[in-house]
Amino acid sequence: MSVVRRNQQMSLVAYVMVPTAHHHGAWRHPAADPGFLDARWWIELARIYEKGRFDMLFLPDLLAIPDRTGGYEATVSKGAQGAVQLDPLVTLAAVSAHTRHLGLGITRSLTFYSPYDIARSMATLDHLSGGRVAWNIVTTSQRSAALNFGLSKLPERGERYDRGDEAIEACLALWDSWGEDALRVDKEAGVFADSTAIRRPDYQGKWISACGPLSVPRSPQGRPVLMQAGASDRGQEFAARWGEVIFSLQHSLSDMQAFYRNVKNRARSYGRDPEQVKILNAVQVVVAETNEIAEAKRRHLESLIDPTVGLLTMSSQIGVDLSQFPLDTPLTDIGDASGTRGSLDVVLQGTRAEGLTLREAAVRYATSELTPQIVGDADHVADELEHFFDNKGCDGFIITPGPLPGSATDFVDLVVPKLQQRGLFRTEYEGGTLRQTMGLCSL
Ligand SMILES: Cc1cc2nc3c(=O)[nH]c(=O)nc-3n(C[C@H](O)[C@H](O)[C@H](O)COP(=O)(O)O)c2cc1C
Repeated sequence: MSVVRRNQQMSLVAYVMVPTAHHHGAWRHPAADPGFLDARWWIELARIYEKGRFDMLFLPDLLAIPDRTGGYEATVSKGAQGAVQLDPLVTLAAVSAHTRHLGLGITRSLTFYSPYDIARSMATLDHLSGGRVAWNIVTTSQRSAALNFGLSKLPERGERYDRGDEAIEACLALWDSWGEDALRVDKEAGVFADSTAIRRPDYQGKWISACGPLSVPRSPQGRPVLMQAGASDRGQEFAARWGEVIFSLQHSLSDMQAFYRNVKNRARSYGRDPEQVKILNAVQVVVAETNEIAEAKRRHLESLIDPTVGLLTMSSQIGVDLSQFPLDTPLTDIGDASGTRGSLDVVLQGTRAEGLTLREAAVRYATSELTPQIVGDADHVADELEHFFDNKGCDGFIITPGPLPGSATDFVDLVVPKLQQRGLFRTEYEGGTLRQTMGLCSL
């Protein structure tokens, strides 16, 4: 059967966080390999995604063990999201030496790392990897991160984004401080670099200053691919201004479409080409040879979730300790004295209407943190992804995994060939840099 390659193909990005990305039972699965403190675990995983022609392996970052209502103790003892957080830059540096095409998505907070540090480390890895680096720009909303980085409190959101705008301008100026041909290494003439092609940006803002020039020559991509995931109005504005790859976490096609239109229109208002802003929605996939086997897998995974971990994560989302209520309390019986019911409705996206108990809601929350879950055989999963993609809900997907590395292998072996047969996904990498892989402008 000949494959007609679509004009627009989707992007696929793997979202990996250990022990827990979004499914709080996955680390307990018998097939989950707990070897993530060994570089070989990451290299093997990256090779699976590279075999599947994924755009990128993306690592989120948290700068403190989440102090949920039970303190860090509850988070670590249950293996909740953030119980362990390896440095994404260091981890992906190890991966880069053992892969050739896969993009390397690194989260770095511009509230806590200086622009010079970010610009230098990203440019370094962009060189070492042959131009495969992306920077997930976060402003960090964790209060406890401030205490780890010598601040008494976290700057409020508006200030974080104001500083963020400046920090990005400073990084861009640092990355541009070396002209393309500035590095000469002309042994005969004794000229190592052309100093006239290197300039000092001397960036001065209200919050940020960075003198420069950078001590790393211009990297293969000029600058890393800029990624962002702001959800608030200000966050979306920031994403539209700077983001080339934007993550969304919308739960239905209509919500995805609204987000998609909004961010692309905002990008246009900054004079940007909306095609150069790729919007990827997170989905969790449980796939198997048949729909029945996939459903059995889903049920097994769900049975591994401790409802108290769901309660913990929901409590921290809404800022109310839900452990004060017995687990079998129907959601409808939870009073609204302190706005608890309203916040729960927002977090659970209306599932209260289904008559769930707190236990059931907690399990549901700990299954995917309400990332849309697709369960079925490969045709079903491909149908769903194609539906969201074709109806302009997104330009591709962030695939959040179950037990690793098995759920990565399942996706790559079962779903990727279906997407390729439909002409929706690449069969080979074209071009060397991540920008080329993703169809983003070279600089
Ligand atoms: C797919 C995805 C990945 C994210 N990764 C991180 C991360 O690694 N670190 C982090 O501090 N925040 C992360 N966030 C949170 C966002 O950066 C952002 O703070 C959040 O969406 C709230 O938006 P706001 O800052 O506009 O309120 C992520 C969000 C999404 C949807």
